Amino acid sequence: MCGVVAYTGFKEAYPILMSCLKRVEYRGYDSCGVALLDGGDVQSHKDVGAVDDLRSKLEHVSGATGIGHTRWATVGKPNKENAHPHLDCSGRIALVHNGDIDNFMALKDELIKQGHTFTSETDSEVISHLVERYYAGDLREAVIKAITHLEGSYALAVVAADFPGVVVVRKESPLVLGLGEHENFAASDAPALLEFTRRVVYLEDGDLAVLKPESVEIWRAGTRIELPVHQITWNVSELDRVGYPHFMLKEIHEQPRVIRDTLVGRISLTEPRADLPLAAHKPPARLIFIGCGTSYHAALLGQLFVSQISPMPAHAYVASEFDPLPSSLKDAWVVALTQSGETTDTINAIRRAKAAGAWTIGVTNVKESSITRVSDDMLYLQAGPEVSVAATKTFMAQLVAVYLLSLHLAPPPGQLGELIGELRSMPSKVQRLINSQSSIQALVKKLNAYDHLFLIARGINVPVAYEGALKLKEVAYLHAEGCAAGELKHGPFALLGQNTPVIALAPRDAQYPRMLTAIKEIKTRGSPVMAIAFSDDNDIGRYVDDVLTIPVAHGLFSPWLNTVALQLLTYYMAAARNLPIDKPRHLAKSVTVP
Ligand code: M6R
Repeated sequence: MCGVVAYTGFKEAYPILMSCLKRVEYRGYDSCGVALLDGGDVQSHKDVGAVDDLRSKLEHVSGATGIGHTRWATVGKPNKENAHPHLDCSGRIALVHNGDIDNFMALKDELIKQGHTFTSETDSEVISHLVERYYAGDLREAVIKAITHLEGSYALAVVAADFPGVVVVRKESPLVLGLGEHENFAASDAPALLEFTRRVVYLEDGDLAVLKPESVEIWRAGTRIELPVHQITWNVSELDRVGYPHFMLKEIHEQPRVIRDTLVGRISLTEPRADLPLAAHKPPARLIFIGCGTSYHAALLGQLFVSQISPMPAHAYVASEFDPLPSSLKDAWVVALTQSGETTDTINAIRRAKAAGAWTIGVTNVKESSITRVSDDMLYLQAGPEVSVAATKTFMAQLVAVYLLSLHLAPPPGQLGELIGELRSMPSKVQRLINSQSSIQALVKKLNAYDHLFLIARGINVPVAYEGALKLKEVAYLHAEGCAAGELKHGPFALLGQNTPVIALAPRDAQYPRMLTAIKEIKTRGSPVMAIAFSDDNDIGRYVDDVLTIPVAHGLFSPWLNTVALQLLTYYMAAARNLPIDKPRHLAKSVTVP
């Protein structure tokens, strides 16, 4: 899981490659590097650390054609040797790779026997030596021959000292071409190129392209093909922090707009009705939601929301654990949630769902991402680019999508008007919550004094407890566990005490009395308790040490507001701990390894 970029034109390639690399840094940031063609040589520079670290060490490298890479280590430790680009023995061929080569050990042994010398532990380096084996002046031919040996996934960009361009090829890893005037580009995703061009071409699995300043040739199975040119609609300003100290905070603040945009055109203006333009006409007998990480929590919320509004059976699975029996899903729709559209575990799960006979719907924020090629139908989120590794606004957009889908497929008689009305009111309620952050700041200091905490909830808020715990772990590096309130007494009680605070999600809904019971039991064990409760709840303060309030909402929508409160709490806790909020250690935004 890495980011690759390439440029060929008449300008200095180095600053362009660095800008593009910054945009794909969310895909990995333990090391990075570039290789440029300069006066008949390949100049390669790489190091451990992020793109800005390399930029600060390397003022300028000249050349008008080059490739770049930012790495999230899979095979081989994150060190300078394993960073990309990887060169052949002569140092005249360089390549960058995103993906995994499953048979690299066998290939490496074979190449070593043939006299090739390796300088890294990576799987990627075998590819540069394979290209070397076949290179006789035609880089396209050499790459085609090299990839016939590869088992696994790859998006490759390759240069050779005496070849006037870049050869790129993909299989199961994303790759986009950018078309310019007297210059052309490639990158792992389209936003990386937005600063330089809006005209992009999405390569399919197996496609290879030869980029030169004045031409782009695309090849599929040995034949020249033309592919449609798409216009990117996102604005470059959406990729900047615009005054916010971190993307995470900016993206949390964007959520009222995200809810509005994801609703547009999907709820009827005249009647209480959710309208989704779905391709399948026969409604399902049951719904299955799948996803990973935060997207799995949205899947759980989908399952619980459907169960609360209709008798339609609904289930949620972690995508990597979803393995249905053949033909067992002929009456089901599988709704796959993935903000990036690239998560390998989710994409593989969709393939298994289809093999089991399900109709599949992909829900993603990224147009033309890999999920669009494996799903029967698509539902797009309208969150705009999310840069921070922690999913915030895309989670919110997923909630909008699963609620809309549920209301569309399983409309609850007698309740639809009220629920659609509440949907419409959510942007302003989320905005009010974002505007009232003073009580959050006071709690940050208190909670930051601990090393562990529990988040508890009941009913539809249980997935929010899980999501809050995930955010605290990944962004604030705090060990947090989400738990159904009733489960604490079945084991975790042993960990309670004055050093283990508990955050209780306690909206005044049908579960409220039982939540108060759980809170009392926890207080008896000595744990400090903080509640997140409705702003009109004047009782809760009697049972807990601190209260964070959220606007009053329908019980089924309290998860949206609890989510925002926990996002803000996490953000400010991480900021007080001075952590790299947008790029937490060891993580990457798009997880393209199984
Ligand atoms: O792109 P996806 O929604 O498929 O990503 C799934 C997870 O990798 C992702 O939600 C991850 O858990 C985030 N870092 C959470 O903030």
